[in-house]
Amino acid sequence: MSFRAIAIDGPSGAGKSTLAKRLAQGLGFLYLDTGAIYRTVGLYALRQGVAPGDEAAVLALLPSLTVTTAYAQDGLQHMYLNGEDVTEAIRQHQVSDAASQVSAIPGVRAYLLEMQRRFARENDVVMDGRDIGTVVLPDAQLKIFLTAQPEARARRRYDELIARGQQADYEQVLRDVMDRDWRDTHRDIAPLRQAEDAVAVDTTQLTLEESWERLFQIAKERLSL
Ligand code: DC
Repeated sequence: MSFRAIAIDGPSGAGKSTLAKRLAQGLGFLYLDTGAIYRTVGLYALRQGVAPGDEAAVLALLPSLTVTTAYAQDGLQHMYLNGEDVTEAIRQHQVSDAASQVSAIPGVRAYLLEMQRRFARENDVVMDGRDIGTVVLPDAQLKIFLTAQPEARARRRYDELIARGQQADYEQVLRDVMDRDWRDTHRDIAPLRQAEDAVAVDTTQLTLEESWERLFQIAKERLSL
């Protein structure tokens, strides 16, 4: 039996995870947030006192790291770092930056590639990330490249942090968004870019509801549902 896959790539704050999760629910597929995997590696580096940009030191940590995913009753994806539930911890602001840095290390990407592919071999999936359509699942039935202007994405990220009770400064969030965009698009390995056969959706002017309707429509047409 072969499984179906939808790849959703794009920069942070374009609405990927919310929309991918909802799309997965709507289609009865599993949702895999691959950014959460890189975040778990970034968190581990920070906890071990290793600079996330120090390639040799980060690679030396991998043998003592096990990243696993499990789904709670409510369908929420939980991340485990050596058995510890770090679902909340990986959402901290400094972990975003660490994740972006460790994700630029080729050895880290190679280490996580098979885990992601296996997931798609065993399930119908909606997977979101930066390189799902270009590298991880080049044969996905549908690829979506979700974008939005940096200011709109920073505003969403800022609102999210505030809603979670965390402190945030909009200008700082915007700078971080732009730094991460630059790093994610300019790294040598698996940079963020639109796959040639991806459908581009720009959500700058769209509400979440409108973005959702657009995505669901595209998915139904493409997968003949
Ligand atoms: O989507 P996110 O913000 O949770 O991702 C965290 C970081 O991980 C992001 O800066 C880029 C990196 N990432 C990646 O390189 N490849 C992926 N497939 C997913 C995320």
